[in-house]
Order: sequence, then C-alpha cells, then structure tokens
Amino acid sequence: MFVAVLLLLVTLSVQGRNGEKKAEAQRPGHVSVVIVGATGDLAKRYLWQGFFEQYVNQVSGGNTFSFYGGGLSPASTATPIFFEIVKAVSCSKETSPDRCALLKEQFLRLAEYRQLKTLEDYQELAKNIEKELQQEGIPEAGRLFYLSVPAFAYADIADKINNSCRPASGAWLRVVLEKPFGHDFRSAQLLASQLGSSLKDEEMFRIDHYLGKQVVAKILPFRVENKKYLDPIWNKHHIERVEIILKETLDVKGRIPFYDQYGVIRDVMQNHLTEVMTLLTMRLPVNMSSTEEVLQNKMQIFSNLLPIGKNQAVTGQYQAYKTSVQQEMNKTKDHVSLTPTFAAVLAHIDEAQYEGVPIILISGKMLDERVGYARILFKNNVFCLQNHNSVHCKPKQIVFHFGHGQLKYPAILVSKNLFKPVLKEGQWKEVTEHTDVDVLGLPISDYYVQTPSENREAYSELISQIFAGSKNSFISAENLLASWGLWTPLLSSLAGSFPRIYPGGADNGDMLDLRMKGKDISYSSEVVIIGADQMSGTSAKDFQVMQGKFRSAAMVSAWSEELVERLAADIQASAEAAVREGGVFHLALSGGSSPLALFHRLALHHFSFPWRDTHVWMVDERCVPPTELESNFHSLHDHLLQHVRIPYFNIHPMPVQLNQRLCVEEDAGALLYEKEVRKLVNGSSFHFVLLGVGYDGHTASLFPNSKVSELGDRLAALTESPVKPHQRMSLTFSAINQARTVALLVMGKGKHELITQLSRMKDNPDKWPVTGVKPDDGKLVWYIDYDALLG
Ligand code: BG6
Repeated sequence: MFVAVLLLLVTLSVQGRNGEKKAEAQRPGHVSVVIVGATGDLAKRYLWQGFFEQYVNQVSGGNTFSFYGGGLSPASTATPIFFEIVKAVSCSKETSPDRCALLKEQFLRLAEYRQLKTLEDYQELAKNIEKELQQEGIPEAGRLFYLSVPAFAYADIADKINNSCRPASGAWLRVVLEKPFGHDFRSAQLLASQLGSSLKDEEMFRIDHYLGKQVVAKILPFRVENKKYLDPIWNKHHIERVEIILKETLDVKGRIPFYDQYGVIRDVMQNHLTEVMTLLTMRLPVNMSSTEEVLQNKMQIFSNLLPIGKNQAVTGQYQAYKTSVQQEMNKTKDHVSLTPTFAAVLAHIDEAQYEGVPIILISGKMLDERVGYARILFKNNVFCLQNHNSVHCKPKQIVFHFGHGQLKYPAILVSKNLFKPVLKEGQWKEVTEHTDVDVLGLPISDYYVQTPSENREAYSELISQIFAGSKNSFISAENLLASWGLWTPLLSSLAGSFPRIYPGGADNGDMLDLRMKGKDISYSSEVVIIGADQMSGTSAKDFQVMQGKFRSAAMVSAWSEELVERLAADIQASAEAAVREGGVFHLALSGGSSPLALFHRLALHHFSFPWRDTHVWMVDERCVPPTELESNFHSLHDHLLQHVRIPYFNIHPMPVQLNQRLCVEEDAGALLYEKEVRKLVNGSSFHFVLLGVGYDGHTASLFPNSKVSELGDRLAALTESPVKPHQRMSLTFSAINQARTVALLVMGKGKHELITQLSRMKDNPDKWPVTGVKPDDGKLVWYIDYDALLG
C-alpha cells in the first residue's frame, strides 16, 4: 500500500469549531484507520466522507495515513463494493476540480478492503500495519478502529483488537463505538464491563452524532458567550417551558428487526434528546474544554432529574408499522408489536433554578415534517393593547434549530424582544437576508439569526475530534449509565402498554396533540372515561351520589371520581364553617394512596379553600425521614401542600425524627405532638379527621391486636405495623374520637370483601381497629365508592 509521506512534521492539535484548542499536542506520524463494517449504511453515508475530509485537512499537517475497510465478507466479493463507496466521496466547494481529483486518487490509493472475521484476520492486519511502518521508516502516531457493526459484536471485536492490534507504546489506540450502547441500565452496564476488560476508558469513543451537529455543539459556547443576557432569565421565573423535538417523516421500513427491539425512546430519546437536555440545563463549566468539569456538571443534572413515571409519557405507533413488522420479521397477521414509534415525555429538574419548568421531549417517525430543534420559550408579561404586530407582544424564545424544517439550515434564533446575541468568532455568521419563512410562530425577521459559516456533517466533525483525541463530544460510561438510569424505569413501566395508533403524515391531524397538567402529560384528545360511562348500558342518573347508612353511621357512595368530589366539597364546607365560627380550621389527614385523589382535587379545584386559616395535622406517620418517598408527610407535601397557599407555620408534621434517630420512645416524639395539639387545637378536638381502612381493618396506624384501645387519654403514640416500615406514630382513638367530623374513605374493588365483612361485624377494636372509631360528640361519615361497595 502506498503511504503518503509528508514533509512538514507538525503536531496534530486541531482547532475545534468553536475555537478552543481541543487537545494536547500529539506525536505526528502514521495513522491507520480501520472501519469495521466498511460497506454498511453508516459507513457509506457518512464515515468514508468524514475520513476523507479529515485526510484532506491533515494532508499538509505531518501525518501519514492508511485506511482499511473491514468486514465479514471475503475480500474478493467486498472489494468492488468497497471501492464504489470510497470513490463516491466529495470535496468541498472551495477545492478546485484538479486538486479534488488528486486528493481522491491519493485517498483511494491509501485504502484497501480486508476481511476481518477471525483473530487471525486481525493478527494479519496488525502485521500489515507493522510491515508498512518498517518499510516507510516512519513513526507510528496511532490506530483508530471505527466499529460500525451491531452492538452485540462489540465485545468480541474489542477483545480481538486488544489481543492483536495494540500499537507499540507511544502510539495511541482509539476505538469508536456507535449506539446502541445497551438496551437498558443493566445491559449497558454489562456491555461497559465487557468492553472495559479489553479497552481502557480513554481508548473508547462512544459516538452520539447529535453532539457533532453544529448547533448542538454550540449550545454551551452560546450560553457562555451570552451569559450576561442569559443569566438573569435562565430560570423558573422567566422560562415558560423547554421543548426538545425531533420530528421525522420517514418510517422505519428496512430496519424493523433492529427497531422493534428498541423503539423511539431507546433510539433517540435516551441519547440524542437527553444530551441536548443536559447541555441546555447543566451549570456552565468554568473551563469549557475540561472534559471532567463538563461531565461533572452533566452528572449533576442527571442526579437532579425527577424520576419519569408513566404519567409523564405518552406513546404512539404509526399504523403501517404493524404490517412492516409482520413482513420483515416473518410474523403472522395476529402479531402485535407494542414498540412505540412516537413518544412525548415530560421531564422536570428538582433544582431551585428550574423548579416547575416543564421540559418536553418529543420524537416520532411518520410525522408531518422533518425537523429537529430545542426551544426555550420565555414568559412574556408585555400586554399590547393596539399594536399586536409589535415583536414585544410576540413569543419570546431562543430556538436551537438543528436543521431541516421550513428554515432548512442549522441556526440559533433569538427573538428580537429578548436580546441581540454576541457573535464571537468567524465560524458563525449572522443571517440578515431572509426568505419569507416562519419559525415556531414568529416570522424569521423577528429573530436575530446566526448560522455556521460553513455547514459540516456531524460525523465529519466528530471524526476530526477523534483524530485530535478530544473527548468532549463523546459519551462517557458514567454519562451513559446515568442516562439509562433515567430512562429504564420509564421503559419498564411502559412495557405492555398500548401505543396510540396514528395514520402518519398530515393525516395525524390533532391525534398527537398533547396536554400538560401539573407534572403529567396526556394526549389532549383523549376521551376521559369516568363515572357512569364505565358501566356499559347503564344510564348515568342510576349511579349518582347515593346516601345511606353503613354500620349505623352516615354513608356517602358514588363512583370514585364523584365520591372524591363530594368529599372535597364536604371538607371545604366544614373548613368554611369552622373559620366563620372560630377563625381557624384543624384538619388531620391520613397517609397512604387512597387520599391522593382527594389531595389532587383539593389542589386543582378548590381555589377558594381557606388554606390561610387551616392547620394541617397528620393522622399517622411512618418512622422514616421525611425525605423518603415512604414518608406520609413527603407524599402530603408533594400532592397537596406544595400546591396550595398554606402558611408554613400551619403545617404540623409528626416528629418521627428527633436527635438524629427515628421514633425512639425516650425522645418522646408522640408526647411532643400531643402537646402541640393541646396547645393549638381547642379542646383537642380536630374539626375534620380523614381516615382510611386497611385490608386487616387497621385505621390510622392503629393495628389489630396491638392493644390500641389501652392508650387511654394519650393523643398520639408510637405503634407497630405488621408490614414495613414497622415503626409508626399515630393519633389514638382518644384523639380521633374527640373530632367534630371523622371521614372514613374506602375505595377500590380490592376493598369489597372488607366492606362486606365490616357490614356484618360487631365492634371489636382490638381485632378490627376501625370499629373503634366512634366520635364522642362528632359525626362519622363513611365515603365508600361503588367498586368497594358493590364489588
Ligand atoms: C439515529 C436514529 O440515531 O438518529 C434514527 O437511530 C434517527 O432512527 C436519526 O432517524 C436522526 O438523526 P438526524 O441526524 O437525521 O436527526
């Protein structure tokens, strides 16, 4: 093989696109590039072109090259195909035809195809490289292996490289890996440890081609360059929401056997969109070129992202997908795939800066247009009375437009009602002449627009960084696992759920429109099935709220939704009466899951509730720190207290944690709570106590056979639960039965058996604690939904 020997020996440090020096100086010399999977689609479309551009850039820079295309096919069959692909590379516009022809000819002469299947093949390759080095008498700079093969082959190839193709010391080894890096957290971890046994971390370059997109690579530099404008507004007070969107028009025909195992969340959200999200929200590094600092700041975002639950995602599948699966995977007509080709996910970061700011990630195949962007939409508090066309009345936004769409080119757009962004270096330019186009609700002339001076393919950009040994735009193992850590629980909770089927393209109409409510996201055109609609053939009026008696006390019954509405209304009425009468309302609330719907109802619908005069007490608590999800107070805080305007000093969590320990008798936490009740609640008589009942008949944290009736006048006590966490603190019967109103809420089919038993049972508080609830002077009302009542 011909080796281009160049006269000028200089170091191979390159200037990154954003100007900073990207890598340490490296020893110049010979570089062997090996693309494994050399005739595959990715290699054909991007890799050879990227390596050619790199070769052209480096040709006068002191290095020499050889390029090997590797694959499983024997050289006799693959070589002609290989050369067809390599011949198709193209020069930049500035290169003259003659020079281009010369460069291409040189490049072709430096390239050869080799079968790379067995360990012997890799050993042969290594021998060949060494022979060339000796013949030419040049030092070796390094060896670059680009694995453009399915991920299951990585570990084996890495092992072969390790065993046979390591260069002598002083020269580098770089192995480039393409996603998917695993299928979920565990598989990614396994792959990382398999690869780690053959390759050092600094030798691995995990590609996410979005990090090579010019606009994505510019997000952090843009934030730094415009810090003085962005610092005051890059927070929850100013940001309305963040959208990270990748819409595609194509289907996945031809790659179904791969795609069907992955789906849109694994294919583009876990990687591309997540990376963009971290770049937009991470703390700015002091030193932009410090890989470690950038990584640490990214990791901080990962650790502060709230878990994404089932209610924070919707999925879809384009209609024709099913048939393609049947055809490409040889499945029968009744085979159903649940793999989503569309998903919309709502993320939130638990940091004061971004608290409550919705981050929406959306991607899908077969949508109406191909476009990728991230938009930061700001709140606009300007109200225009007459001149509605003034830019001040319009959306305030920054759009990182990755490409395609109406605009057709990559750009960063800042609406003119925000600020004029700084244009720092020659690699980006301002666009002032526009074709008539709208971008996300604003005519292009309402934006300051910046675009790269020269458009570069993401792969070419990343390849030049691999040469430079710069790892800033690659995915570290830590980053990868953190991202899987975020997505794996959602993927597990979505397994088995049916995606919404959409026709594809413009016909999707409003089918994929979304609605955000609190932290949840849903399709906006969803039909809500509630109440009587669940009973086919039964008219709504037959199932309205019904009143009656249960265990000689008052009972209200309805379908769950109406029951909760009614209970919330009754609590509000009781609150208003108490405030009218004495200026204060004392409400004691239970934990567990039953009251959650009630909390939501109160938070979302009862805006006139007198929270300012309400004191919230706890019926019981688990002996865990309040930061734990299991803590009743934690749940009360998340589902109710943080959403209503209640003064902090009106909130009375149970003191389960004293002296850095949990529920120790001698710390007298229960006594402390009792004293607080006696101090603030008139006659220790709560106005309203909300209770639930467990399958074993327990109520509050008063469990069967625990002598709870022997607690006498005590208002609060430590108790033992048969289930974990065992230690509890609870109001006693004495406290509960002094209340003016006690509500017992029972919901769900699972409680039908219990309700049937309770309806027949005599009072026996030791065995069935709930039967000990008998207000002395107040009233008891059972709120039982139809599922629990009728089964
Ligand atoms: C790839 C996904 O990583 O990214 C493809 O596997 C997707 O399914 C592609 O089409 C999108 O990349 P781009 O650069 O076209 O936006």
